[in-house]
Amino acid sequence: RKVLSVASECVPLIKTGGLADVVGALPAALAPEGWEMRVLIPAYRGVLDKLKDIKQVWAEDDLFGGPGRVLAGRHGRLDVLVLEAPHLFDRAGGPYSVEGRDFGDNAERFAALSHAAASIARDGDAEGWRPEVLHAHDWQTGLAPAYLRWHGGAERVASLMTIHNIAFQGHARPDRLGALRLPPESFNADGVEYWGNISTLKAGLTCADAITTVSPRYADELMRGEFGLGLEGVIAARAGQLHGILNGIDTEIWNPETDTSITPFSARKTSGKAKNRKALLKEFGLGDVPGPLAVLISRLTPQKGIDLVAEAAGDFVAQGGGLCVLGSGDAWAEEAMRGLAGYFPERVGVRIGYDEDLSHLMFAGGDAVLVPSRFEPCGLTQLYGLRYGTIPVVAATGGLADTVIGATPATLAAGAATGVVFHPVDTLALRQALRKLVALHADTPTWKAMVRRAMAADFGWAASAARYARLYESIAR
Ligand code: ADP
Ligand code: GLC
Repeated sequence: RKVLSVASECVPLIKTGGLADVVGALPAALAPEGWEMRVLIPAYRGVLDKLKDIKQVWAEDDLFGGPGRVLAGRHGRLDVLVLEAPHLFDRAGGPYSVEGRDFGDNAERFAALSHAAASIARDGDAEGWRPEVLHAHDWQTGLAPAYLRWHGGAERVASLMTIHNIAFQGHARPDRLGALRLPPESFNADGVEYWGNISTLKAGLTCADAITTVSPRYADELMRGEFGLGLEGVIAARAGQLHGILNGIDTEIWNPETDTSITPFSARKTSGKAKNRKALLKEFGLGDVPGPLAVLISRLTPQKGIDLVAEAAGDFVAQGGGLCVLGSGDAWAEEAMRGLAGYFPERVGVRIGYDEDLSHLMFAGGDAVLVPSRFEPCGLTQLYGLRYGTIPVVAATGGLADTVIGATPATLAAGAATGVVFHPVDTLALRQALRKLVALHADTPTWKAMVRRAMAADFGWAASAARYARLYESIAR
């Protein structure tokens, strides 16, 4: 059986966040379920150079202002389709912006991607490959299910819309309707209209046969204004077709026993972890840290609670803790993190930037990983932390709440705790959580048992891939 996944990012070709990890991992995860998944992404500058066995499978002369064609190719074990449309995608910068400024034509760029996806889903590609299901991810591809509805195809091809982060909704002015190839009748509350504008995410949510998000808890949260951010009503109206399916992690890339970026270690033999801790302290130029060494690997934005870390770090350091930060994002947050390192040069190290290798060393060498997010659809860094025996300290929200068992007298007595979970998401609660972490770390037998349990937790893709497969089967025509 065949499914076409369409997205704006896919590991290892292009990544700005967890969306790319998930889109890149799904094809291999679904294969054992009997589903052949191909991924369609834009041919951003440089992407084509990474592909082998390239051949054209689809083309259109005027794709939103220039020629577009879809090329099939291979990258390692991944079968990908890339949309080559130089007028839209051959640019300097990231997928959405250059030097911090969003491209002015993002609506058209990703409408073109969605259009190509819908077209291949409806008619098949030049080789006769045609999917039963079109799986769209986030606002960038929300128009794909909408095109199936309004340009035809929905009667043959089912569609699924996955929300990775509802904070980005793909707004466009109403006068863009025609330019985005949407008919006038689509502009209403049951279609693409959103408070007088167009929302491409809403389009996907109203037109897809089913909706998923990346954890059960976030699925529940999304029906509240606080988390739904204006789309809570749309979500609640489709509660019967909404499913929370947890993300897995790629257990080959994230395996402490075989990871080439670190000194390997296992749950049975954790001495390697101490070596990684030493290497990490050295890498960040820190002195001796008597208490737990925490790591933070994140986009530096308000979602991720970076301001809370800035405010709670002083108390943590006073308790004996240390902190290594790797990330980039908003200027104020980068500044706040640099400020901490300046204030506590022996205990806090900060690296502004993106560094995959260093992130592996941090997950391996840290004692704890901080994820104090205000909202977190799933979150992957707490999962990498668990796998590497690095105890997650997380806010009780979204996928964080679904994957970490917080230490309480009851969970410790039951031998179940794998982390520290705090609520509400404010500085006081984070500070207390870090004090709890320090106390747990000092209690060696309890700590060792937690680390062993964390490493034994299973967050591979098998269970979630089976859920996606059942869902595809239930919506396929
Ligand atoms: P989000 O997608 O909201 O950013 P996730 O936790 O789902 O959050 O995914 C973030 C991904 O990006 C993880 O794989 C994480 O390790 C990685 N990551 C984030 N910042 C950095 C960085 N500065 N360097 C390396 N990897 C990073
Ligand atoms: C989003 C969310 C994150 C999730 C990722 C992959 O970026 O912010 O929580 O893990 O998508 O689904």
